[in-house]
Amino acid sequence: MAKILLTGAAGYIASHTWLALQAAGHEVVGVDNFSNSSPLVLERLRELGGRAPVFEQVDVCTPALAQVFERHRPDAVVHFAAFKAVGESTSQPLAYYRNNIGGLVNVCETMQRSGCRRIVFSSSATVYGVPERLPLTEDAPVSAVNPYGATKLMGETILRDLGASDPQWQTACLRYFNPVGAHESGRIGEDPRGIPNNLMPYVAQVAIGRRERLQVFGDDYDTPDGTGVRDYIHVCDLADGHVAALRRLLEQPGSLTVNLGTGRGYSVLELVKAYEQASGRPIPYDIVARRPGDVAACYADPAQAQALLGWRARHDLQRMCEDSWRWQSMNPQGFQA
Ligand code: WQD
Repeated sequence: MAKILLTGAAGYIASHTWLALQAAGHEVVGVDNFSNSSPLVLERLRELGGRAPVFEQVDVCTPALAQVFERHRPDAVVHFAAFKAVGESTSQPLAYYRNNIGGLVNVCETMQRSGCRRIVFSSSATVYGVPERLPLTEDAPVSAVNPYGATKLMGETILRDLGASDPQWQTACLRYFNPVGAHESGRIGEDPRGIPNNLMPYVAQVAIGRRERLQVFGDDYDTPDGTGVRDYIHVCDLADGHVAALRRLLEQPGSLTVNLGTGRGYSVLELVKAYEQASGRPIPYDIVARRPGDVAACYADPAQAQALLGWRARHDLQRMCEDSWRWQSMNPQGFQA
């Protein structure tokens, strides 16, 4: 097995990936600056993983990252650390370029100096912009429709150019669709700060009584019930996708870009109904105007991940909602308690 460095390690997807990598027999080292996560996650990882997490509080944009590589000598990196709010990226583009692009460049330069040349990169279905055809395959046209998406697209470009410049580099760009749900223990999960931008955590907070009503952003899209359709994927399936991508980088030469989605789209109202069934709580909502920048529908063709990684998502929407509800009801204030 190998030693894997996770950046953004205390975050939602990273913390679930941490447990999946440990279960697969890897040694994990985590770094995070807690700019959008809580140190409490480390305590939960110790409880769930059965050992004290090896962790260093470091900002990946700073020279301090070099000492982490000197101390731990990782065989590969999974780079999660990035700002990820689409709306915020539009109002604060420079912060997004500095953190997301500057952070990736610093990670790659530090890896190069340390002789570590395998990286798994958190990309996003946002790189597809407004889909021309569905389901989305990896060769679909890409375009940046907001600064956040631009940082993901530029990140993929940086890694492609790096691989072309030095064949020793192996890169895996994982295009996440809509990550939702939580570890079955209910001890870790999604804990957005402030008002949740994304649908499932907002619905969860309505169910637990932290929010009054859900605003449904438009019901006049060209979709079966008029509300937006997305490819929701359980965060534990996503974590397993990272384990499979790392296994491929460690066992075979070459690089890859794959969609991590289920291949099935669900509408906002379908998710609301599933959440009411999972929680036993009503989710009152109002139909309001569309949210600028939203697309009608977006869902993956996951065939490439199946072919290259032998991976496919296994959890259905009901399980995503059940696991989300268990986390939310056991942690009404998230990690901020
Ligand atoms: C899903 C659907 C909304 C909130 C974003 C980013 C993407 C990725 C995932 C980081 C849409 C509707 C939402 C609400 C609603 N993030 N909605 N009321 O926009 O598909 O993707 O998050 O990688 O990059 O773009 O996810 O959960 O925000 O929206 O009606 O309060 O729910 O209109 O149809 P999205 P979302």
